[in-house]
Amino acid sequence: MVDHDVKDTSLAAAGVLRIEWAEKEMPVLALIRERFAREKPLQGVRIGACLHVTSETAGLMRTLAAGGAELALCASNPLSTQDDVAAALVTEYGVSTYAIKGEDRDTYYRHIQSVIDSGPQITMDDGADVVGLLHSDRSEAAAGVIGGTEETTTGVIRLKSLQQQGLLRYPIVAVNEAMTKHMFDNRYGTGQSTLDGVIRATNRMIAGKVVVIAGYGWCGRGVALRAKGHGADVVVLEVDPLRALEAIMDGYRVMPMAEVAPIGDMFITATGDIHVIRKEHFEAMKDGAIVANTGHFNVEIDIPALEALSVARRQVREFVEEFTLPDGRNIYLLADGRLINLSAAEGHPSSVMDMSFANQALAAEYMVKNAATLEKRVYDVPTDIDEQIARLKLESLGAGIDTLTAEQAEYLASWSMGT
Ligand code: ADE
Repeated sequence: MVDHDVKDTSLAAAGVLRIEWAEKEMPVLALIRERFAREKPLQGVRIGACLHVTSETAGLMRTLAAGGAELALCASNPLSTQDDVAAALVTEYGVSTYAIKGEDRDTYYRHIQSVIDSGPQITMDDGADVVGLLHSDRSEAAAGVIGGTEETTTGVIRLKSLQQQGLLRYPIVAVNEAMTKHMFDNRYGTGQSTLDGVIRATNRMIAGKVVVIAGYGWCGRGVALRAKGHGADVVVLEVDPLRALEAIMDGYRVMPMAEVAPIGDMFITATGDIHVIRKEHFEAMKDGAIVANTGHFNVEIDIPALEALSVARRQVREFVEEFTLPDGRNIYLLADGRLINLSAAEGHPSSVMDMSFANQALAAEYMVKNAATLEKRVYDVPTDIDEQIARLKLESLGAGIDTLTAEQAEYLASWSMGT
C-alpha cells in the first residue's frame, strides 16, 4: 500500500461509493480523464497537492493519475477531510494521502511536510500552504519544483504578495482567476454549500432571520443570494464602495458592522480578512446570535476575543459551541470559525467542482508543457482553456448556444457602421 496517514483504511468502501456519486456530476473532468489516459501528458510528473480531501478532489486525483502523474495529497484545512474518501484514495486509487478530519495543527503541518517530502515537481494548493512552506522552512525543496497551481482567492493574494516582493521561486497558474472557476465555484458553490453547512449544523430556520453577510466578493454574493432565496432579511457589510453599491442594487441593506451587530440573527464572514467580527461586535450582539465563517482561514472571527469575553462555554451540538457572556447572553460559534461549508457539510457540489478541477487538471498540463518558458510569476489560466471548459460544461448540460453570422462578426470588428 502507498505511504499514507488517514483515519481508517477500512472506510474505503464507503469512500468509493461517495466518489462514484460525485463523478456522476463531473462530466468535464471525465472527458479530460479519458484524454489524459490516452495521451499521458503528466507521465512520471510528481504532483504534491494540498486540497480539501473530498469526493470531488478524488475525481481530480484520478484524472491526474490517468495522465501519468505520481501523487501525494494532504488536506488544506484540518476539518474538511472526508475520512472515507481519504481511505479510498489510499487503498483503491493508490494516492499517497495524509489527511484526517479534525487533525490538530501539528498533524496538519506534518501532513503538508509529508507531501513536500515526496519531492513534488508541481504543487497544487488551496490556500498556498505548500507554497508557504517551500518559501520558508522547506525552501531547499523548492529547487525541484517547476510550477504550481492555486485554487482559491486567499492563496492568490498570498502568491501575488510573494511575487510583488520578488520572492516567488516558481511560476504559478492562478486557477481561481479563471471565469469558469470563480464565477461559479465561489458564487454558486459557496452560496449553496455555506447555507447547507449552517443548516446542517444548526437546523435553524433561515426564513425571516436577519442574516448578515460580511464581504460582497464572489463568495459573499453567492451566500447573500441563497440566504435571500431562503427568505432571510439579508444585510451586507463591505469596505469597498463599488461592491457596497452593487449589494444595494441587488436588493440588500448595507450597513457597518457596529450598526448591524445588535440586530443580526446569523453572521457569516466571507471576506478573506482578519477579525471582521471582534470584541465590540460580540458585546453588542443579541442573545442567541449565530456566528460562522466561510472564508478560507479561521481568522475572520476573533475567537480569542469571544473566549476572553465569556464566562462559560460548552458544545451544544456537533459544530455548535455556546459562549455565555457575563450578562447571560449566549453567542453560538459554528465549526470553530473554520469554513462552515466544508466542516459541517460536504463542500461545494460536484457539478461546480467539475469546472474548478477541470481547470486544475488543464493548468497542470499547461504547466508541464510550458515550464521552460514561464517566468516566476502568477499567471491567469489561459483564456482558451477557460472557454474550452465552459463549452464542454454547456454541452454536458445539453445547452446549445448560437454562433455569430459572418455579418455579425464583421459588424463587431468594424468601427464605421453607425446609425
Ligand atoms: N472547495 C469547496 N468545495 C470543495 C469540494 N467539494 N471539494 C474540494 N474543494 C472544495
